[in-house]
Amino acid sequence: MTKENETILETSNVKLWYGNKEALHGIDLNFPEKGITALIGPSGSGKSTYLRALNRMHDLEDNVTVTGSFNFKGQDIYAPTTDTVDLRKKIGMVFQQPNPFPFSIYDNVAFGLRLAGVKDKETLDRAVEESLKAASIWEEVKDNLNKSALGLSGGQQQRVSIARVLATQPDLLLLDEPTSALDPVSAHNIEDTLLELRDQYAMIIVTHSLSQASRISDRTAFFMNGNLVEVGDTRKIFIDPEKQETADYISGRFG
Ligand SMILES: Nc1ncnc2c1ncn2[C@@H]1O[C@H](COP(=O)(O)OP(=O)(O)OP(=O)(O)O)[C@@H](O)[C@H]1O
Ligand SMILES: [Mg+2]
Repeated sequence: MTKENETILETSNVKLWYGNKEALHGIDLNFPEKGITALIGPSGSGKSTYLRALNRMHDLEDNVTVTGSFNFKGQDIYAPTTDTVDLRKKIGMVFQQPNPFPFSIYDNVAFGLRLAGVKDKETLDRAVEESLKAASIWEEVKDNLNKSALGLSGGQQQRVSIARVLATQPDLLLLDEPTSALDPVSAHNIEDTLLELRDQYAMIIVTHSLSQASRISDRTAFFMNGNLVEVGDTRKIFIDPEKQETADYISGRFG
């Protein structure tokens, strides 16, 4: 990572309630414009809740209240004027289960651009090819772009999902356990893909795999009980964390 790695997203005092139940208790966390931050922590610690708050996925649920400040490249994510469709193009999300649409591979990747009104065939062709290349799946699918994405393996579907997100030229990728539904070889391919992308994008990945976090992330944030316990350089968190809870979790004593 270069020295000029500026902050792309600043969040402070983030609280979130499901009904009356407070699930996040005031998270302060910033992200640089390039590189991978891993969110780790026990089940129920608030990792997904926090991640989903970053592109306003909770807007789609009833009874969720979010407070705190979210500054994304100078824009207030929760400002009433923020267009969430636009926001989710800039802050794209990849889920645990690969979720291709029941269309061709080409149409899956072109989906976001068409939604944005792009019709020119050459522009779409180029974007589809570039996105599939960036997601390290082009060589495997280039002769079958018109075949259904549902015919691909889970790992291939996940890379197509990544290509679909990349096609709209996001600045930040959110990934919630993107390899946990995959076999080890496919998971390894996704890790390689993310490592290829890490110099160009900011990525936040939730993972239960400590070895995955240590292999691919630059920074690691440890969550517990709806709090951020600590965040830092991944090597530091794994070798010499500041907090006892972090040391206990890393050494497998709970979680
Ligand atoms: N839709 C929801 N309605 C009510 N409570 C919820 C909802 N989603 C999550 N919670 C609660 O919020 C807390 C944080 O959950 P969250 O899913 O963010 O944890 P997590 O760290 O992602 O866990 P996991 O590692 O199991 O995915 C938990 O207590 C959970 O039960
Ligand atoms: Mg989760």
